[in-house]
Amino acid sequence: MIYQSLLTELNDGILTVTINRPDKLNALNKMVFDELEMVMNEVASNVAIRSVIITGSGPKAFAAGADIAEFSEFNREQGESLSKRGHQVFAMIENSSKPVVAAVNGFALGGGCELAMACHLRYCATHAKFGQPEVNLGLIPGYGGTQRMTHLIGKAKSLELHMTGQIIDANEAYRLGLVNQVTTAEELIPTVTSVLETIQSKAPVAIGHVIRCIQTAVMEQGADGYACEAELFGACFDTEDMREGTRAFLEKRKANFNGK
Ligand code: COA
Repeated sequence: MIYQSLLTELNDGILTVTINRPDKLNALNKMVFDELEMVMNEVASNVAIRSVIITGSGPKAFAAGADIAEFSEFNREQGESLSKRGHQVFAMIENSSKPVVAAVNGFALGGGCELAMACHLRYCATHAKFGQPEVNLGLIPGYGGTQRMTHLIGKAKSLELHMTGQIIDANEAYRLGLVNQVTTAEELIPTVTSVLETIQSKAPVAIGHVIRCIQTAVMEQGADGYACEAELFGACFDTEDMREGTRAFLEKRKANFNGK
C-alpha cells in the first residue's frame, strides 16, 4: 500500500512505519490518523507482518504533537470528536495482537508522546524529548495521554508532567519508566529490530495473549478515563485561553492567558 504521510517497509516480518512530515516535525494531522488506521488494518490482516516499528522521519522528531494548525478554530464538539478519533486509532495500536514498538528518534511531545505510549514498548535515542505540553496551549492531552502516562509512570509524576508541561530528556524518561531503553541515534533501529527478532522467535499466539492480558490489567480501573478526557478536551475548545494558546503558537509568540 502507498501512503502520502507515512513510509512503510517490510523486512523479515517487521513492518517499519515512518511518519513522514519532517518539515512539520511529523505533527499528527488527519491524514496521518487515517493512514495509521489503514496500516493497523493491514497489520491485522497480513500474515507476513509479525511486528511493527513506528518512528519519525528526519533526525529531529518522532512527532511534535497533534497538528495545531488543523484544530485551532475547532468548536467544542469538533474537539471532542477529534479526541475520540485519536482514542480509536491509538487503541488499534495498543490492542494489536502483534507487538508495536515506538523508536523515538527525537521530539515526542503531546500527541507524539501519546502515540509512543500507545505502543507496547518504547526505545529512544539519547536526544529524544518527551512531554505533554498541552497546558501551554490552554488544552489537555486528547489522545489518551492522561490515562496512559498515569498507567506507565504513576499518578504523582503524571500529574506533575501534565500540569507543568515540562519537557523531559531521554534519561529522565528512562528513570521514570516511560521508555524501556535509551540508545545512540545510530543504534536505535538495530536495537528495536533485535528486540523484535527475539519476540518473533516466540509463539505468536502467546505473544498476542500476553498483550491482551496486560492490557486488561491496566484498563479495568481506567476505562472511563478516556470518556472523561474526550469530554474535557472538547470543553477546552469553549475557552478563550485555548484560542489564545494555539494562535500564539502559530504566530510564534508567548501566550497571554486570561483564565476564561
Ligand atoms: N503542530 C503543527 N505544526 C507544528 C507542530 C505541531 N504540533 N510542531 C511543530 N510544528 C511546525 C512549526 O510550526 C514549524 O513550521 P513552519 O516551519 O512552517 O513555521 C515546523 O514544524 C518546525 O517547528 P519549529 O517550532 O520551528 O521547530 P523548533 O526546533 O524551533 O521547536 C518544538 C521544536 C518541538 C519545541 C516546537 O515545534 C514546539 O513546541 N512544537 C509544539 C509542541 C506541542 O505543543 N505539542 C502539543 C500539541 S497538542
